[in-house]
Amino acid sequence: MEKYDTVILGYPIWHGQAPKIIYTFLESYDFSGKTILPFCTSHSSGIGSSADNLHELAPNANWPDGARFAAGTSESEIQAWLESLELIDTTEVSTLPYDGIYPQHEPYGTEIGAMPGRVVWTYDPDSVEWDGKGYWWELDHFDESVILDMVNDSIAALGGKDTARDGWTALFTAHNAAHGKSGGYAAGQKIAIKANINGSAVYDDDTSGETKMSYTNPVLLKALLTSLVEEAGVAPEDITVYDVSRLFPNYLIEICTEGELKGVRFVDRDIGVADESAPIVWSHEFSGKVNYLPTCVTEATYVINLANLKGHSYGITLCGKNHFGSFINGNTMRPPEGANLHQWLTRNEMGIYSPLVDLMANANLGGKTVLYMLDALICAPSKGASITGDNSRWQQAPFNGDYTSSVFVSQDPVAIDSVGADFLMNEPTVTDYNGALRGDPAVENYLHEAGLVGNAPSGTIYTDSQGHTVTNLGVHEHWCNATEKMYSRNLGKDEGIELVSIMK
Ligand SMILES: Cc1cc2nc3c(=O)[nH]c(=O)nc-3n(C[C@H](O)[C@H](O)[C@H](O)COP(=O)(O)O)c2cc1C
Repeated sequence: MEKYDTVILGYPIWHGQAPKIIYTFLESYDFSGKTILPFCTSHSSGIGSSADNLHELAPNANWPDGARFAAGTSESEIQAWLESLELIDTTEVSTLPYDGIYPQHEPYGTEIGAMPGRVVWTYDPDSVEWDGKGYWWELDHFDESVILDMVNDSIAALGGKDTARDGWTALFTAHNAAHGKSGGYAAGQKIAIKANINGSAVYDDDTSGETKMSYTNPVLLKALLTSLVEEAGVAPEDITVYDVSRLFPNYLIEICTEGELKGVRFVDRDIGVADESAPIVWSHEFSGKVNYLPTCVTEATYVINLANLKGHSYGITLCGKNHFGSFINGNTMRPPEGANLHQWLTRNEMGIYSPLVDLMANANLGGKTVLYMLDALICAPSKGASITGDNSRWQQAPFNGDYTSSVFVSQDPVAIDSVGADFLMNEPTVTDYNGALRGDPAVENYLHEAGLVGNAPSGTIYTDSQGHTVTNLGVHEHWCNATEKMYSRNLGKDEGIELVSIMK
């Protein structure tokens, strides 16, 4: 007790008073000169005489007025009370030197979202249980209810609320406000979810999903759909999940359209229809084929970008690159090749044009996106890699040799990919299994172009594909070090990224 100047003393009211064990506690130490802050919980009684009667047991302590909390007191009410006490200096301080692979710099760009610049990272090791054998995606490797809780907790925290329901309202309202509209989600509005099915049916028409390569986690997709239906109040028939360059595995469609999800639509490369009134306008001259967005995107009011946290032979493939499956051209199997785009991702250079920034800026894609989510339940070191127990168990804390078992969400496309880029490129398991990434910080070129979009290092003027120059896409910076994983807002600044970690 000598170490403490302030003691926060909590107890339930029993018959109008504190339980006797609290008396014993106060009689057991010398509280002279210390501050004791009492609070109680009760069915209906106020703190009343219970606190006064405790004063006599520590008469030389300082006793400010106490507080009483009823059942149902929310976390934010308790938080507000703690903050009102002004006891704790909430400014965290980084104690370790920077050890990241990327050059460190101040935040580039302006934060976006209900809680500007916020990225929520939810980690629950109970979500994944896999011995590393067979296919990574088999449904019994995942705990569905744990993953649904992870999604709902992430949405609540991203909106700065206590519940997913309020969180969704905050996210839709903030997105609409940023586009000059008021209110939240309105019944009947359509939502297009871009999943990343890249590893499945790459070169063939196999819809079994039986590949060891990476694609959107089926259980996470189901959890996101369930949260949208149950908590955001979206009707399943107003939701389309799409990837117009791949085929969805049949079993995945089945679990994502059963029960209350009946009516959710899936659009793949076979049935995706090009909206010829919506060609993608690249900010760089291309000789490739014209690329059209699918009608499920142009008809939607909102987009959700559900990407994977994974490496690629062309760098890192997070929310930015997920939209390489969002357009249709004459090359059905490989639209990005048809569009001649990959040359810009393989050059390992900073300060060059990035097609990913055009997709982030596109009025129908980035412009409609209400939520960015990174599936990091089991991460692949590279797009083409077979996922095995060995190459997906990560070394950095808190994973410590186990699966990443995580979900990341944000409303800021640059912030979420900046956080993803820090996790990915500073992870020895990823760089051990992916030679293309090892020692190549230039994979973040698109994040510099996006963060500084109004004055991009390459000199490119990026537009939204509808003739408007884009001046901000979100905020980019790097964490303070791989151990503490703090960004500017975690370090008490009023700008930059805030990484909110929910560790189960
Ligand atoms: C033996 C006993 C006596 C209690 N007496 C009171 C009381 O006098 N006034 C009151 O408001 N609540 C009373 N309660 C309710 C407790 O304060 C309440 O259970 C406690 O704050 C914990 O809250 P919870 O039951 O919602 O978890 C009593 C509970 C017990 C078990």
